Amino acid sequence: MSSKRILLIIGGGIAAYKSLELIRELGRRGIASRVIVTKAGTEFVTPLSVAALSGDKVYTELFNLTDETEMGHIELSRSADLLVVCPATADLMAKAVHGHANDLASTTLLATDKPVLMVPAMNVRMWGHAATQRNVAQLRADGVTVMEPDEGPMACGEFGPGRLPEVSRIVAEIQAMLRPPADKKRLAGVHALVTAGPTREPLDPVRYLSNHSSGKQGYSIAIALAAEGARVTLVSGPVSLPAPEGVDLVKVETARDMLKACEDALPADVFVSVAAVADWRPVKTATQKLKLKGKGAAPAIELAENPDILRTLSNKKKKRPGLVIGFAAETEEVERHANEKLARKGCDWIVANDVSGDVMGGLENEIALITRDGAERWPRMPKEQVAARLAARIADQISGRDDPQKLAAE
Ligand code: CTP
Repeated sequence: MSSKRILLIIGGGIAAYKSLELIRELGRRGIASRVIVTKAGTEFVTPLSVAALSGDKVYTELFNLTDETEMGHIELSRSADLLVVCPATADLMAKAVHGHANDLASTTLLATDKPVLMVPAMNVRMWGHAATQRNVAQLRADGVTVMEPDEGPMACGEFGPGRLPEVSRIVAEIQAMLRPPADKKRLAGVHALVTAGPTREPLDPVRYLSNHSSGKQGYSIAIALAAEGARVTLVSGPVSLPAPEGVDLVKVETARDMLKACEDALPADVFVSVAAVADWRPVKTATQKLKLKGKGAAPAIELAENPDILRTLSNKKKKRPGLVIGFAAETEEVERHANEKLARKGCDWIVANDVSGDVMGGLENEIALITRDGAERWPRMPKEQVAARLAARIADQISGRDDPQKLAAE
């Protein structure tokens, strides 16, 4: 879902300030906002604060000649993938129902050929009024998505439905509306295998060797591949993340279990090896808790090397996934080590990241994508955005391969 853009119309209501948080949360997920603030909206948020957050020019008046030459209101209404009215006031909804076009927001709503999401927020009695309910029903009949407001205490002191929905709910709705329809999903029919999280190598029933991997990047990639239409098998070590919807999750503990689960999941068209697999395991796992007290010396723990899952799948004679992608967690000379890893493991691409900072367990990642053609450096971005961009690159690669014209040109 990288490079998606919404056109956000901020109406004049006390909940307008929450639209600032919405812009920020969407930005973190790679969704840009271009913003129109209605005249009433400017009483609640300043165009300057909106511009600072959206990183774009903010539009406020219909008949501004400079804007009309730079970008007319018709073009503005079509410059995004989705129009979002937040907060949608009773007045804005009534205008949209009747096709008014006497300011920039209403004109844009009338001129657009894009889907529209309205996020209402108003006093409980205004929301419950027959006129508003009639308007909501009409908007929905006209194809506009109108969210149900939340229920609770309101700024005006009353209680009931009318509060702006939680920002996380609005973000989820926007993401769902921006998702390509099933027939446009480029990875439909593709089986993707993803590993994520750490592995745990037991010493005894209570102790193990492991690492700090949170699983966040691997889970995000599984979700992004599923959003592109792939059937995804996610083989995960122990993490505290919820099972992603629409993904086949196989939970494992050790590296050897992880390899077996991956082999059982083959054939796959794509394998993305994100797991931070423990390189070694204790040769012996005690069946009872090791008693260390009173022995005087610390025990020597003999280690054995774990199987390399990425190398094993990359070098399969039969059932090698068509596209094999490894990760390289490095703390220095990132690209040089990543290139060596690409050759050593026999995979097709390496996603190289510098884990010297707060990447493991953190929310953001800065990576370089190493292919046989060279390195692409991506700017620092949230892990979800890295995932969406990688899924899009995978889809380009796979759909490119399937494109008969491209094959003929090769
Ligand atoms: N990997 C794997 N099985 C292992 C070790 C690593 O599948 N036993 C995969 C990881 O999922 C990742 C890639 O190999 O895609 C590189 O992992 P990394 O830990 O960076 O490299 P190592 O192979 O452990 O090499 P080194 O420790 O020398 O950096």
